Amino acid sequence: MIVPDIIIAIDGYSSTGKSSFAKLMAKELGFLYLDSGALYRGVTLFAQEERFIDNNNEINPALEAALQGVDLWFATDNRTFIGERCIEKEIRTMEVSSQVSPIAAVPYVRRFVDAKLHELAKGGRVIMDGRDIGTTVFPNAEIKIFMTADPDVRAQRRFDELVMKGENPVLEEVKENLRQRDYIDSHRETSPLSRAADAFILDNSNMTISEEVAWVKGLIKGKFNLYDD
Ligand code: DC
Repeated sequence: MIVPDIIIAIDGYSSTGKSSFAKLMAKELGFLYLDSGALYRGVTLFAQEERFIDNNNEINPALEAALQGVDLWFATDNRTFIGERCIEKEIRTMEVSSQVSPIAAVPYVRRFVDAKLHELAKGGRVIMDGRDIGTTVFPNAEIKIFMTADPDVRAQRRFDELVMKGENPVLEEVKENLRQRDYIDSHRETSPLSRAADAFILDNSNMTISEEVAWVKGLIKGKFNLYDD
């Protein structure tokens, strides 16, 4: 199946498996994968390390100017860097997860990330995941998917992921973090998480990732009248 140069937007709640799905889809279609959450996580790590955010989530407005000097980018294997330093591991910790939503609610942070995404997606053939890709960042994306899954399934997935990474999570804390992030992400003033009217809903509580890929490929085929090779 030869897919035209389109943009595929994947939005949805935290830990619904958006990035694993988007990465696999990108590989199968030969698309570039862009993880917008990793950029918000990178900004959060920077803000924490440079003390622009305190324990009460107070954000020093000087962060806005400081961001202009932050060289946040992705390597071809999707790892996230600031300048020469790979920050992939640090941005996935609970410490970063616990402050990323307040950082992502700040309008100038969203402008910074959106500009980066537009720059990286210039050539098209991109699959991107996040919270507001289909509504705000790329409202003209040709294919939009809104991913959702049962909250307990999501918490267990996130918990397993953290264990695999050698962390020592507590299931109740992981659940609470997801609950808080869902709330902040869907209630913030600037581009809250919401389903674009033209997005397809994908509830993957009881689906394998290959079933998800097959389902979305079916959508693409139908939309562009494509045939299998
Ligand atoms: O997808 P993720 O869990 O890595 O995203 C981390 C946080 O970044 C998430 O809590 C909300 C925020 N985010 C956002 O506000 N908009 C996006 N497009 C992507 C992520």
